[in-house]
Amino acid sequence: MRIQKYIAEAGICSRRKAEELIEKGLVKVNGETLSEFGYQVQENDRVEVDGQEICGFEKKVYYMMNKPVGYVTTVKDQFDRPCVMDFIGEDIKERIYPAGRLDYHTEGLLILSNDGEFVNTITHPKNEIEKKYIAVVNGIVKEENIEKLKRGVMVDKKKTAPAKVFLSEIFKDKCVVEITIREGRNRQVRKMFEAVGHHVIELKRVQIGPLELGNLKLGRIRKLNPNEVQALMSAAGK
Ligand code: URA
Repeated sequence: MRIQKYIAEAGICSRRKAEELIEKGLVKVNGETLSEFGYQVQENDRVEVDGQEICGFEKKVYYMMNKPVGYVTTVKDQFDRPCVMDFIGEDIKERIYPAGRLDYHTEGLLILSNDGEFVNTITHPKNEIEKKYIAVVNGIVKEENIEKLKRGVMVDKKKTAPAKVFLSEIFKDKCVVEITIREGRNRQVRKMFEAVGHHVIELKRVQIGPLELGNLKLGRIRKLNPNEVQALMSAAGK
């Protein structure tokens, strides 16, 4: 396998970014800095990227979990907060990691894999995979604001792309809104509601492309079947 593909398969970055790492002299094979893109990695090669040993030959595995509130989706947190990797049992030997982020205060569907190409494909903004959230927000969102959210609102000085928005339940001083977005900007759903004057009290992701959270219990993880993996790739146009 060519070195760029190997680095991408290990989930470090895209093949193109891998070429940049090679150019910068950050890739070593068996202790020697690599200078060409054509190198074919062999089974027993020791590959390091920026001083870190990596493995691109692992069997590819795919999981989904129901992330609880109070966990970060980064593999290591600067404030030492609990991390979703704490839920990965001893039985999962592969080095899986989360595809994209969910905020510390957000719960719901998170995909994990050790297949770097798959993760890059389903998280790349250009592939515009839909993500559906259920938001409990303070106050009752007026119809005109639902329309604004649908058309796009200013978030971090840039208008958000068209979204699907549906007011599904109304209580005395709060309501439930289903919102489906194609982008994945930092804290996007929360910021979209702030832009129309509402604070998100609870946020849960329930669907990514064709994959639904279903009745997977909080903190539980399960394998994706090949059809689900294929459907996610198809949703990304692959
Ligand atoms: N939007 C948010 O505000 N938070 C998330 O975790 C995901 C989307």
